[in-house]
Amino acid sequence: MINNKLPKMWYGGDYNPEQWDTPTMEEDIRMFKLANIDIATVNVFSWALIQPSENEYDFSGLDRIIKRLTMDNVYICLATSTGAHPAWMAHRHPDVTRVDYDGRKRKFGGRHNSCPNSPTYRKYSREIASKLSERYANYEGLVVWHISNEYGGYCYCVNCAEAFRGWLSNRYETIEALNKAWYTNFWGHTFYDWAEIVPPNSLSEEWAGNRTNFQTISLDYRRFQSDSLLECFKIEYDAIREFSKNVQITTNLMGTYPELDYFKWGKEMDVVSWDNYPSIDTPVSFTAMSHALMRGLKGGQPFMLMEQTPSQQNWQPYNSLKRPGVMRLWSYQAVAHGADTVMFFQLRRSLGACEKYHGAVIEHVGHEHTRVFRECADLGKELVQLGDTLLDARHQSKVGIVFDWENRWALDLTSGPTIDLKYVDQVHKYYDAFFQHNIQADMISVEEQFERYEIVVAPVIYMMKPGFAKKVEQFVEKGGTFITTFFSGIVNENDIVTTGGYPGELRKVLGVWAEEIDALLPGQSNEIVMNDQYGHMSGQYQCNILCDLIHSEGAEVLATYGSEFYKGMPVLTKNEFGNGQAWYVASSADAQFLSDFVKTVAEEKGIHPLLKPVAGVEVTERIKDGQAYLFVLNHNAHEVTMDLGEIQGTDLLRQSLVHGELQLSAKDVMIIKK
Ligand code: GLA
Ligand code: ZN
Repeated sequence: MINNKLPKMWYGGDYNPEQWDTPTMEEDIRMFKLANIDIATVNVFSWALIQPSENEYDFSGLDRIIKRLTMDNVYICLATSTGAHPAWMAHRHPDVTRVDYDGRKRKFGGRHNSCPNSPTYRKYSREIASKLSERYANYEGLVVWHISNEYGGYCYCVNCAEAFRGWLSNRYETIEALNKAWYTNFWGHTFYDWAEIVPPNSLSEEWAGNRTNFQTISLDYRRFQSDSLLECFKIEYDAIREFSKNVQITTNLMGTYPELDYFKWGKEMDVVSWDNYPSIDTPVSFTAMSHALMRGLKGGQPFMLMEQTPSQQNWQPYNSLKRPGVMRLWSYQAVAHGADTVMFFQLRRSLGACEKYHGAVIEHVGHEHTRVFRECADLGKELVQLGDTLLDARHQSKVGIVFDWENRWALDLTSGPTIDLKYVDQVHKYYDAFFQHNIQADMISVEEQFERYEIVVAPVIYMMKPGFAKKVEQFVEKGGTFITTFFSGIVNENDIVTTGGYPGELRKVLGVWAEEIDALLPGQSNEIVMNDQYGHMSGQYQCNILCDLIHSEGAEVLATYGSEFYKGMPVLTKNEFGNGQAWYVASSADAQFLSDFVKTVAEEKGIHPLLKPVAGVEVTERIKDGQAYLFVLNHNAHEVTMDLGEIQGTDLLRQSLVHGELQLSAKDVMIIKK
């Protein structure tokens, strides 16, 4: 359990008192009490303060902050401060700064920008983590370590180039094997020496961020950079562990962030934490999916909501305020999906630099008489009342949706057949379809045990990692339902095409052969025409982006294309395989189709909605020691009537019995102990 030492939903967030004076900090602490704030993340960006030079450390300021906070029972999430290197370091050791995509050597400035293969960065980040651990490991108030901050970005410097060659020789062993894997006979790219290999960026194979001449080198560079940053995390992790044996360690992730393979990262973290920054118009189901994805990184283990803003951001083009009730609603949304903490960036607003217009619990006015503070204080009180009731409660989803970063990179990098295919959007469409029916889904890795689920959906699973197709076959054979789509099964893990017809290794279980793939122009669409009514599917639907021209090789054809020269060819098929079924959706279907489709398939598997769906109302369930807690979140700006059906229980937030039909106000939340 995350919250051992402080057994309640931790409530607090990033706190940077090094930016203001002591009396102000006293005021902060007074207000923290008013809001029941009990955790502060400190030292996130203080490296330059605590290490003025190579051999000099000064922890006096940090000592004071930590002591003062813990004196008033504010627990500590202690960051290692390595998310921004000091100016002296960049000045004296230029290897810490990165070389960017266009080959420009960066100078000091910004943050999250240290070269992950810089010997200087690795040395000093290890040392500072070690020093911090030595000093604070046994502080009673320390509850979690926070390594660096929002790892991300790539570097293309000489140290990275050299490390890349090492990484490659580990992966391929011989240059011949690399040539084969990378398909270098194309365009005469054969390498004879590792030294001939240079990082793929706009000086070499790539342009525009994700266009490339050679998919495999670009793919490998993404794997390598993700691994390099992860190595930096591990270096600090090990340094902390020398002294701090039991306190859990995390780093804050960013949901569907593209550049790091978070499933790999999740394995190295004790607890996953992440920063949730939706815009006012982000679909609710997208945020839900992001939470589910973060929960999925450690196989369903609860996570920390490390950051969210109490009110507004500063870095979006238009930084809308969170409307009254929304901060509370979105906090509970995180909890509904597995968060065991509710934390903010930031507890008090900065006065200078680029984040002074970023929302905070304590605003520039400096007192507690603000809308934002009142809302924060109200939530703080509720979280105290909830106590440890929900901590460590899990989800028991019957649907698993596969998400794979390497597959995503391969799709982003692929040259053709369309630029409109966005992996995350495709996955989200399926997540959203289940979501709208109040059918909870987990986001899972390709390595997850599929047998935990009744239905496994793998949208656009273009890259077949070794063993994946076999795993699907076994899952379906034993009675599972597998759903995949167009443009799947095409390449191996090196982005080399599997010969013998698409969808490659998935052909057998799906019982189809895709002969050709048509790319539709923007605005163009085709139709999914149902042969007959099937479950909730009838008539016709729209589809676009890509259309696979498939032939059935034993699969039942339920719908065909309505136009183009491939009118009448299958677009929806279902293959009986062993005791289960494998579905193929040969194009990017519209929301109505997906809604009717997943409803049908869920019913076939005996999966029922958690609650009768009402538009704009989200429902999830967490279970602890056999006790189920139903979260009902009204995202609408108006009151709704919910029909609880057979369900009755206690609404934990109001301590009242609920059953039958009831009203839920705009932006309001219910947590029903069934
Ligand atoms: C990120 C960072 C924070 C802060 C916020 C602002 O999440 O981790 O330091 O910059 O963004 O939204
Ligand atoms: Zn580098």
